[in-house]
Amino acid sequence: MGGSLAERILATMRDVEDFPQPGVTFKDITPVLADGDLLAEAVRAHADPYRDRVDLVAGLEARGFIFGAAVALHLGVGFLPVRKAGKLPGPTLGVDYDLEYGSARVELHAEDLPEGARVLVVDDVLATGGTAAAGCRLIELCGGRVVAVEVLTEIAALDGRTLLEGYTVRSLVTV
Ligand code: PRP
Repeated sequence: MGGSLAERILATMRDVEDFPQPGVTFKDITPVLADGDLLAEAVRAHADPYRDRVDLVAGLEARGFIFGAAVALHLGVGFLPVRKAGKLPGPTLGVDYDLEYGSARVELHAEDLPEGARVLVVDDVLATGGTAAAGCRLIELCGGRVVAVEVLTEIAALDGRTLLEGYTVRSLVTV
């Protein structure tokens, strides 16, 4: 398959209608994971701008763990899992954020994050931006500094960047 990296990711991702609920089109990135060459290229694209510029990579549960851990390995730095409420054995710090209906919480083992560490935040999809914004606030609450937010796919219509004002946000693909 020819074309730019963005074109090849777009052509490989799968739209799943009515998931997880009727009327929603889910952007499934598993075909990108299953393509070894594309996965390696995406990981390099996420990582290369940050060589020697970050001390840790934080991945947002769950698909951010897949890309984030690979990016950390590529950069030769450690990985922090930013998890949903109640998953980490603790002690944790957490940040609550609003969903369309209700709220959610992300948590981190604060002691794994040295004061002042430079952190790259990685996830698969930026939609409303709520998850990534909460992840950034959490890293700062734990004493870290957010260098940038890297996502594979950004859903432009949901304008997630508004919640991330003040942060550098980069996506490999915009839909
Ligand atoms: C998805 C996606 C991002 C988040 C983006 O995760 O992987 O983490 O939603 O949405 P937002 O920008 O509106 O916050 P999901 O909550 O589906 O969790 P999962 O990865 O554990 O399935």
